[in-house]
Amino acid sequence: MTRIAVFGTGYLGATHAACMAELGHEVIGVDVDASKLAKLEAGEVPFYEPGLEEVLKRNLAAGRLRFSSSYQEAADFAEVHFIGVGTPQKKGEFAADLTHVDAVVDSLAPLLTRPAVILGKSTVPVGTAARLAEKARSKAPAGDDIELGWNPEFLREGYAVQDTLHPDRLVLGREWSRTSRVEDVTREVYAQLLDEGIPFLVTDLATSELVKTSANAFLATKISFINAMAEVCEAAGADVSVLADAIGHDARIGRRFLNAGVGFGGGCLPKDIRAFMARAGELGADQALTFLREVDNINMRRRTRMVELVRDAIGGSLLGTRIAVLGAAFKPDSDDVRDSPALNIAGQIQLQGASVNVYDPRAIENSRKIFPTLEYATSVREACSGADAVLVLTEWDEFRNLHPSELDRVVRGRRMIDGRNCLSPVDWISAGWEYRGLGRPSFTPQRSSMGYGEGLASTTLRLGRR
Ligand code: UDX
Repeated sequence: MTRIAVFGTGYLGATHAACMAELGHEVIGVDVDASKLAKLEAGEVPFYEPGLEEVLKRNLAAGRLRFSSSYQEAADFAEVHFIGVGTPQKKGEFAADLTHVDAVVDSLAPLLTRPAVILGKSTVPVGTAARLAEKARSKAPAGDDIELGWNPEFLREGYAVQDTLHPDRLVLGREWSRTSRVEDVTREVYAQLLDEGIPFLVTDLATSELVKTSANAFLATKISFINAMAEVCEAAGADVSVLADAIGHDARIGRRFLNAGVGFGGGCLPKDIRAFMARAGELGADQALTFLREVDNINMRRRTRMVELVRDAIGGSLLGTRIAVLGAAFKPDSDDVRDSPALNIAGQIQLQGASVNVYDPRAIENSRKIFPTLEYATSVREACSGADAVLVLTEWDEFRNLHPSELDRVVRGRRMIDGRNCLSPVDWISAGWEYRGLGRPSFTPQRSSMGYGEGLASTTLRLGRR
């Protein structure tokens, strides 16, 4: 058992704190936001993350987990201090804003009077950890007895508990010039995971920081690759979903993260590739990452393309039309709307004169804060009522399992525009709907009666675990 403090109680920090307690450690979660702390103390997760509430409640009840706003309490209590605060994009710049990460070290270090280990989890530009290690040692009364390592997180929202307790791998960056204490302590903290045989890679600080950024850059590139193929498919009248299935069978390529659609969003991929480019520039290695600018461009173009597709389907102008938007979260099983393609598209369509009614199973509250002028519905049917077109922009199961008969008499125009290629075109076409997907030929009921429907029936839409 190790006494652990986790600084930051957002998506990353709250999950990490609860999961460390689940591993049997004694944990204190620290944040400056009193309202978040109050909720967590009461066993309530301030955001939607499947399975987290159970872990939180169980460990609060067992007395292994508590929350506090007091750095002093954390410094007195813990031997290991995890940094799990956010590193958002700087306003008006590509670079990451490190204010919160620095603030944790600035507040904590002066209180460290005993030997302690600091483990960073936040995604930071390469070079940050070494700088923070120096800073922590210079500010801490315990001075040279402070060790800092970097232990990046790879958790996906929606699978955060599983990704924390059963990760694909654990990575630790340490300063080789110093003792092995950081590594020894990290091995103790994750002993249960290491016993399960989860790969543990120990490296220098810079490599550990780069592992995280390059993993996200690769994932973003994979998505933009298939979205670039979608653009070509659109121009050539081909079907990107079948193409993804076919190339995905090649084990070297793999089918996961090859779902074409409105592209990636969220609190990680978009800002991480931008921060990576900015940092490479500072290091004089900007040429190496110029392709990420294109990855970003392709991704942002998908949103505009979706708006064009809707405009086209509806007859050339959105003015005065009613559009139903199903999905607001940046991906399913999340209430996170940070840089959400769905909300961005909904906003653009509204700007072009349509009235837009949005429904999402979890993300309405967060959406309202960012886009208060959109209309929000409490059900799929309500959102689709009188709609000239229905847009699926986040592939929640509730939308994937929709049957045309549920909406036939609700909508004004039977047009389904599938921004995630997650529906079966043949189901909608055979029910008399017009179906359009991104990177797929458009299918109207007339065309399907000429044989397109049968062709599509053999197309299995596989959406693998993300
Ligand atoms: C990501 C990384 O996966 C995770 O390892 C890292 O720690 C944090 O960033 P997350 O932001 O939770 O996790 O979402 P992810 O599942 O990666 O999806 C990112 C975006 O890509 C979503 O908007 C999703 O809809 C989109 N996406 C994903 C696609 O458009 N196509 C795909 O095939 C897969």
